[in-house]
Amino acid sequence: MTRWTGKDLPDLNGRTVVITGAGRGLGLITARELARAGAHVVLGVRDAGKARRAVAGLPGAFDIRSLDVADLTSVRAFADSWRGDLDILINNAGVMDIPGTRTADGLDLQTTTNYTGPFVLTNLLLERVTDRVVHVTSQLHRQGKIDVADLDWRTREYNGMSAYQASKLAVVLFSLELQRRLTAAGSPVRSVLASPGIARTSLAAHSRSNVINRFTFLTNDAERGALSVLYAATQDVPGNSYVGPDGLGGLRGHPALRRQGEIGLDQDMAARLWDATTELVGKVAPLAPVTAERVDWQNSITVLKDRRQ
Ligand SMILES: NC(=O)c1ccc[n+]([C@@H]2O[C@H](COP(=O)([O-])OP(=O)(O)OC[C@H]3O[C@@H](n4cnc5c(N)ncnc54)[C@H](OP(=O)(O)O)[C@@H]3O)[C@@H](O)[C@H]2O)c1
Repeated sequence: MTRWTGKDLPDLNGRTVVITGAGRGLGLITARELARAGAHVVLGVRDAGKARRAVAGLPGAFDIRSLDVADLTSVRAFADSWRGDLDILINNAGVMDIPGTRTADGLDLQTTTNYTGPFVLTNLLLERVTDRVVHVTSQLHRQGKIDVADLDWRTREYNGMSAYQASKLAVVLFSLELQRRLTAAGSPVRSVLASPGIARTSLAAHSRSNVINRFTFLTNDAERGALSVLYAATQDVPGNSYVGPDGLGGLRGHPALRRQGEIGLDQDMAARLWDATTELVGKVAPLAPVTAERVDWQNSITVLKDRRQ
């Protein structure tokens, strides 16, 4: 069996890619490899100086832009400043098993970083996207439980790992519903999922679950973990594919088409989640001053909804 690696990337000259949270970890490796293959890579990051230092000296074309995916004002500003086409959007930024904290918009930080912020970013940029949106999820989506009435952990007791699992399931359901809407609208754009398996990065450094990183025979190094993202971003895979490592349990190995958990294929749940998320984000919006800019944003978030027949 041939095992896909970064050497198999196609020529990406002329392609523009946005990757969020690309100043370190899997995002940085993905950015490096895509740029090496010729893509113009835009890193959407919280710390531009750190990202600039991270890509200094690497071959290829990089553009560093400020983006905090957990801050909807920052997300809007990033999307508003975008000009021209965007071939590939990679929603990579993420946090895992962090304490319950509220964002500037009053939303749950972990849920917003992993799911709600990328949901808004994707909707705002969607009309610019020509090829695909890649959502970085996790095998832990299989343990996820979503309460559409309390997406944002207001009434339930918050638990860091449960919130992570739920956010990664939300990402899987987001991809499902996004693909359904794209297909219904006759769009050629694809929504694709990537799971790195378990890759040794600093994601879980503070978490009890980090203990698994000691068992290196069970896990991918960061370079191999990033291959799933690279494969999902560049290979000719069907819409709503789930790309993950080919080894036991989808935890390590080289990228292959795998199957998301049954729970991630629940179309009814995906539609309800989309509506609940739109409603949640709509509640945040009135906190910001009413400007023409915001009206545009609200219109664009429902753009696919309006096209649905
Ligand atoms: N490693 C794994 O085993 C594994 C498994 C399954 C899924 N994943 C997913 O893979 C993705 C990348 O994780 P990783 O392993 O590379 O972890 P990592 O090394 O901790 O990197 C996380 C990245 O996300 C960025 N980030 C966090 N919050 C952000 C925000 N509000 N706005 C913008 N960027 C933000 C971080 O930027 P700063 O430098 O500014 O903090 C960092 O660049 C995540 O979505 C994660 O859930 C990883």
